[in-house]
Amino acid sequence: MPLLEIDDLSVTFDTADGPVHAVNGLSLTLDRGDTLGIVGESGSGKSQTAFAVLGLLARNGRATGSVRFDGQEILNAPPRVLNRIRAERIAIIFQDPMTSLNPYMKIADQMTEVLELHQGLARRDALAEAVRMLDAVRIPGARDRVRLYPHEFSGGMRQRVMIAMALLCRPDLLIADEPTTALDVTVQAQIMQLLSDLQAEFGMATMLITHDLGVVAGFCEKVTVMYGGRIMERSAAGPLFARPTHPYTSGLLAAVPRVDRGTSAMRAIPGNPPNMARLPEGCPFRPRCPHAGEDCAVMPPLVPAADGRDRACHRPAEEIAA
Ligand SMILES: Nc1ncnc2c1ncn2[C@@H]1O[C@H](COP(=O)(O)OP(=O)(O)OP(=O)(O)O)[C@@H](O)[C@H]1O
Ligand SMILES: [Mg+2]
Repeated sequence: MPLLEIDDLSVTFDTADGPVHAVNGLSLTLDRGDTLGIVGESGSGKSQTAFAVLGLLARNGRATGSVRFDGQEILNAPPRVLNRIRAERIAIIFQDPMTSLNPYMKIADQMTEVLELHQGLARRDALAEAVRMLDAVRIPGARDRVRLYPHEFSGGMRQRVMIAMALLCRPDLLIADEPTTALDVTVQAQIMQLLSDLQAEFGMATMLITHDLGVVAGFCEKVTVMYGGRIMERSAAGPLFARPTHPYTSGLLAAVPRVDRGTSAMRAIPGNPPNMARLPEGCPFRPRCPHAGEDCAVMPPLVPAADGRDRACHRPAEEIAA
């Protein structure tokens, strides 16, 4: 049984301009210990997918479909059930640590509160566990620094604290939503290395949400590419990066800056991500796609393609080239 099984998930927001279809019939599974990257430009529905799983949608949002975690249906489950799952089995870390850390509480109190409340540890044991976890995320002098407030840490160190908090409950699944975009490149690399080490050590499944393909390439075994709230292509990471076949994936890859090619070889995808309130008929990428044709007015189904990948495209690269 997969650890996480998302089936035909759709997320719609009610707005003054009408409904916004942020996620459209998305299905995916994650096994224990998997590392899955979810990539796509801003607004493609990555975060709302994760929020729907955890019951964290904004109040004007609704989710339909099914999300089974360890066999249990959790989509739209009561808050009591979801709070428990978030405290014990699925942890999420966000781009901005300050959204998860309470600025008025010492780190020690924030961390031990979780352990005392959800695992019934005594204060002394909880504190020892908190320090152990801060050691695990390589915060120097954890024993002393556990007594500090969040603002007394640098951005990178705060992100480490947040990771430590996420791991306190020893989650089966860690969802990391743009965990490093607010950090400078060197610190970003350190945090990704840390996450990678911790993933191996704790063996948890990890869903890494990012628009940065470089981050995914270093961390994830599998990649799902999203656009317009849909899956465009998914594959093992190696083949996807070596040979993208969906025009959107190709576009994303061509837009990645590479030291060996210089900026002259960088080609941004023309146009902008779609207005999700006014998605075109058919394939959402159609207006920006260099290969689009009449047939693309009907959304292509996500179907198995060569080398084990799934792809939703009427005009993939291999057929264009042929
Ligand atoms: N409360 C809301 N009301 C209306 N629309 C919303 C709401 N929350 C999100 N959306 C819309 O849902 C769409 C998908 O948003 P989502 O946050 O999943 O994007 P994302 O892929 O995570 O992008 P980013 O890389 O910018 O974080 C966007 O078009 C966004 O504007
Ligand atoms: Mg997001």
